[in-house]
Amino acid sequence: MILLVEAINKMLEELNKRKEYLIQTERLATFGTLLFSLAHELNNPLNNIYTSCQILLEELEGENLEFKRELLLEIEKEIERVQKIIRSILDYSKPGQKEKIKLKNLLNETLYLLRGKIPPQIEINLEIPEDFMVFADPQQLKQVFINLFKNSFEAIGESKGKIIVKGLENKDYNTIYFSDTGPGIPAKDLPHIFDPFFTTKGNKGYGLGLFIVYNLIKNNQGSIKIESEVGKGTTFIINLPKEEGKVINDRENS
Ligand SMILES: Nc1ncnc2c1ncn2[C@@H]1O[C@H](COP(=O)(O)OP(=O)(O)OP(=O)(O)O)[C@@H](O)[C@H]1O
Ligand SMILES: [Mg+2]
Repeated sequence: MILLVEAINKMLEELNKRKEYLIQTERLATFGTLLFSLAHELNNPLNNIYTSCQILLEELEGENLEFKRELLLEIEKEIERVQKIIRSILDYSKPGQKEKIKLKNLLNETLYLLRGKIPPQIEINLEIPEDFMVFADPQQLKQVFINLFKNSFEAIGESKGKIIVKGLENKDYNTIYFSDTGPGIPAKDLPHIFDPFFTTKGNKGYGLGLFIVYNLIKNNQGSIKIESEVGKGTTFIINLPKEEGKVINDRENS
């Protein structure tokens, strides 16, 4: 454990030195950003685990069982955090098995997975023609929509609200509009929305949801952009190929 914490601290130092250079060369390449943020994010829970372990070792002979239990629970919580971070990164980097998907069915399956977590005061409208198809990996696409739905639920919160998913047919690719009537996103946050570990939810968010969405859509030869206005709501515009071999040439979104 000590070795791991030391190694991560060293890596952070090294990355910090290189960050300036990387920023100059290009707006931190996605991989560089991820590596830096990852080291940073893993470092916090690992430091906490390390400290709890040290206290536990010192207190091992002590009488206070409740205190030791608390420390172990703390360790367990931090390990879960590390696991969640690592799992999300592993999930999005899989190459995927693409196939032609009926989007409406996939969205219904996604909502089925989310059953019990959908706030009752939120209305969900799927305005997707039955034969609206996209070419993508179904598991990855479900993950995309799970993350988008969860964000909308969290943004709308206890208020009444609507989520509308629309499909628009184009020649080689299809466009999905995923909108909610939540509070919207301030203009200053919009450029960071897909960055790893960008969150406005404090300890309740990892800031990984949209980073994963972005990478999964890229993995499936698609593109994604966001339009949002405070007080009005948020729309994600996703382009995906209709069939195998179609690549979306949309520089604005890349
Ligand atoms: N539909 C939305 N409406 C308003 N704000 C949103 C919406 N979706 C995302 N955001 C903002 O973007 C931030 C990043 O979203 P993202 O899903 O990446 O992370 P998160 O939800 O904070 O944490 P998690 O990793 O658990 O998903 C959120 O913290 C929130 O501020
Ligand atoms: Mg999220």
